[in-house]
Amino acid sequence: MQELSTIDIRDFPHRHTQNAVSPFRYPGGKGFLSGFLADHLAKCFDSSRITFLEPFCGGAGAAVNLLADGYVDSLHLNDADVRVYSAWRAMLSETERFIDRIQSVPLTMDEWYIQSRVSTDDTNSNYDFDLGFASFYLNRTTRSGIVSKAGPIGGYDQTGKWKIDARFNRQGLIERVKWIGANRERIKISNLDVLSFLDRSRRALNSSSSFYFIDPPYVKAGGRLYLNAMGEDKHVALSDMLTSGKITKWVLTYDDHPLIRQIYSDQNMKTIDVNYSLQKKRKEAEILITPSAARYESASAL
Ligand SMILES: C[S@@+](CC[C@H](N)C(=O)[O-])C[C@H]1O[C@@H](n2cnc3c(N)ncnc32)[C@H](O)[C@@H]1O
Repeated sequence: MQELSTIDIRDFPHRHTQNAVSPFRYPGGKGFLSGFLADHLAKCFDSSRITFLEPFCGGAGAAVNLLADGYVDSLHLNDADVRVYSAWRAMLSETERFIDRIQSVPLTMDEWYIQSRVSTDDTNSNYDFDLGFASFYLNRTTRSGIVSKAGPIGGYDQTGKWKIDARFNRQGLIERVKWIGANRERIKISNLDVLSFLDRSRRALNSSSSFYFIDPPYVKAGGRLYLNAMGEDKHVALSDMLTSGKITKWVLTYDDHPLIRQIYSDQNMKTIDVNYSLQKKRKEAEILITPSAARYESASAL
């Protein structure tokens, strides 16, 4: 495959994970890109009255950092997984109830099994507070933050060095959720498939102040870590939508896969160098794609 030039993430300082605003830990989370995105937004827009849209939001690590740091004015988050959606909606619309639950929930294996059952047994596809809280609980207590199919931190017998409560600092999490609730007027959440979300958003919003940050499941092995409602057809349909010019300002991240190289061959593509201390665990090469210069006055921003 053709050699791509590289974006060195160290050139774009961002909040340390410890200081992140999102209450989620997310496998493949993009909080580490918030410095790069802030810099990119400044080159694409004259003001910070920007609506930042994230159709595959997961933990929305970059989005909430950018909102908290004043680089964008509002967020439209979306995730097709009702568990992720319910967690965001519960924090936004039932903030006090969520905080009470963080305060009182036991951090024990018995409770971990209860929350796992809520997460897997709830087949309802509508918003549900308990389902949302279970997703959050499992995200904070399982290895790597994976909501399904992963074991608890410390192992089932809790003999590991770190125990189930290692990533559940109640006070710190309450502060983060409080902040989310206090900013509910500026954060929207929806539960749509990516293509419906993009289509609705581009019709409803002013394109000159909208920016789309798109972080789909990996083409290869995307299904291991979280819901993957993206077959090859949908990766191609997403590329058709983005390269059609209907949406003008976007940044897309992907695994470096031949399909992606092919369907975005006319766009700007760079490798993301995440090989710095905190991200050493990332083994897969990731690429970052922006619209080609023909469509995008600010392509030089990269
Ligand atoms: C790579 S993760 C996003 C991580 C996120 N950028 C972060 O920093 O935490 C992909 C997310 O897309 C969601 N998803 C999968 N297929 C989808 C689809 N067809 N439409 C919308 N969301 C989808 C998954 O539930 C998952 O949360």
